[in-house]
Amino acid sequence: MKKVTAADFAAMKAGGEKISMITSYDYSTAKLADIAGVDSILVGDSLGMVMLGYDDTISVTMDDMIHHCAAVARGAQRAFVICDMPFMSYQTSVYDAVKNAGRLMKEGRAGAVKLEGGTDIADQIRAIVKASIPVCGHIGMTPQSVNAFGGFKVQGRSIDAARRVINDALAVEEAGAFAVVLECVPAKLAKYISDRLTIPTIGIGAGAGCGGQVLVYQDMLSMYSDFTPKFVRRFADVGSEMRKAFSAYSEAVKDGSFPAAEHEFKISDEVMEEVIKAEGGELS
Ligand code: KIV
Repeated sequence: MKKVTAADFAAMKAGGEKISMITSYDYSTAKLADIAGVDSILVGDSLGMVMLGYDDTISVTMDDMIHHCAAVARGAQRAFVICDMPFMSYQTSVYDAVKNAGRLMKEGRAGAVKLEGGTDIADQIRAIVKASIPVCGHIGMTPQSVNAFGGFKVQGRSIDAARRVINDALAVEEAGAFAVVLECVPAKLAKYISDRLTIPTIGIGAGAGCGGQVLVYQDMLSMYSDFTPKFVRRFADVGSEMRKAFSAYSEAVKDGSFPAAEHEFKISDEVMEEVIKAEGGELS
């Protein structure tokens, strides 16, 4: 099966086809998303919150990302796997950025990496692209900057702030990124940026004018109850199905109805008799 690539993203933008992207952090979910026909799987550092239970993405490590990305890569036959570079794996220097992007490709088997930031990290994007690693940008509300922003807040609402987001988008494109995620940006501004750029924009809380959309799968399946952003649509209530199934399982274990005969492995009475005889007892 032919893998989706950065070149396909460009073709989809040129042909007016929207790009679908979803997060995954493990083999089984990646396989389901892949079979469902999702174009791209993002191994987001959101895994720190939805998989590991942190309050934010700051504590996520390179080893966390590599571990989860390698699992996703094994499950994705067609989807383009993009892996997040975690906090402080690229902000520190251009050297660190290239070295760590290389690790996500070699050890995590990613197809591309994603970095948060615009003008401030354009040099890092340029150097990673020069090392033949495709880069997806990420601007607007960048969760790794939560402490600088003073919370998870919509970006680009004032004239100055909107112009900053536009400059970030242009810098990311100029540095060689093949796409850019726009997170929590007013829809009209996101549409303006999407029309102005030659690379596709992937929106999350950025309205319908983007070239594609990305959601965290636990949000869209109602599996993460700590916080649900305004921009999430709940496509299914998998969370409540899981709760019901876990509770039914627990009750079945306690009342003895699970496991039933059909779940058991058999051994002949003759063999069992011999075993018990050899042990000095009797078959009950
Ligand atoms: O980490 C992540 O899941 C992301 C998306 C929210 C875009 O960066």
